[in-house]
Amino acid sequence: MNTQVCAIDEKSLRRAKEIIVSGGVVAFPTETVYGLGADARSDEAVASVYAIKGRPSDNPLIVHVHREFDLDRLVYDEAPYAAKLRRAFLPGPLTLVYRSRGNVCLRVSCGLDTLAVRVPSHEGAQRFLRAVDMPIAAPSANISKHISPVSAQHVYEDLRGKIPLILDGGRCSGGIESTVCDVTGEYPVVLRTGLVSAEMIAAVAGRCEIYTPKGGEQVRSPGMKYKHYAPRCKTKLFAADKLAEASAAFSELHAAGKRVYALCEDEVRGAFPARYVLDLGGSEREMAANLYELLHEGEKAADVIIAVKPRKEDGIMAGVINRLTKACAEEGDET
Ligand code: TXA
Ligand code: MG
Repeated sequence: MNTQVCAIDEKSLRRAKEIIVSGGVVAFPTETVYGLGADARSDEAVASVYAIKGRPSDNPLIVHVHREFDLDRLVYDEAPYAAKLRRAFLPGPLTLVYRSRGNVCLRVSCGLDTLAVRVPSHEGAQRFLRAVDMPIAAPSANISKHISPVSAQHVYEDLRGKIPLILDGGRCSGGIESTVCDVTGEYPVVLRTGLVSAEMIAAVAGRCEIYTPKGGEQVRSPGMKYKHYAPRCKTKLFAADKLAEASAAFSELHAAGKRVYALCEDEVRGAFPARYVLDLGGSEREMAANLYELLHEGEKAADVIIAVKPRKEDGIMAGVINRLTKACAEEGDET
């Protein structure tokens, strides 16, 4: 299959709609990462999203809608605090998990009675979703377990030949996936940290917890149990207070002739030779925006990436550190 990469205009949107209406898939930009979209009401279309990505069949998908779409068509029982969150943060990088009305196919939620809904703020995403005017099930547009794509080029590298169209909306400004927040209970519970932090949610809803699975319990956000976001080179992750060890490990690998790069925040870049630094930046938003871009760059240039955890761990950094840790997890780690 020939994969076209097109700027978002009337012509490419017409083509995108044709593909989606006939049960196909289209990659599109959002403010977080690129998504691989299909008609959420079509079992076959959704099945092909899982097949293209090689995604485990027990990991549910998020449904994306445009800002005028009536959410009552998809979900019900919105708690007052959930309505407040929706008004405060949507459109934007917050996915809300509600009780499902069952108006999308079962495969989207993998048989759960809940549905994850997202209204992206990216103008290109809004144009695509308005053009098709239907709920679009979309995971990140990467091969399962690889780094999520933050540019059309990243999507192309993973899915070339497997999908007909990539809508190119430039580099994603957010850089890590949306916060996933369960709003079916008495108070919000964050299932996946992201750009809308638990602190921001608590400020609006009065309370917010971050879910951590306890031993033996069924995981509430199935996607969180898998190793994820991994570059195709070796990675070694060091705690923020182990900079000296990270620097020594870098030197040893470098001396052994390995292509080694250091991924770290601005503050500590001096611990490594400048030309081998993948600099995450200084602010929380910069670090989120740069993380996947640098992992993509790093896997092309390096045999090994030495990563140093940024020191700040709360707010948006909870999401950044979660993704960095998963990128550096050993195969088979189930956390
Ligand atoms: O920013 C994003 O959310 C991107 C863009 C494309 O919108 N999408 C994305 O999708 O990251 P994906 O499939 O890579 O991750 C979806 C996450 C998974 O962790 C999954 O387990 C969780 O959302 N999820 C989906 N439906 C759920 C549900 N009904 N209950 C709990 N978790 C759910
Ligand atoms: Mg993903």
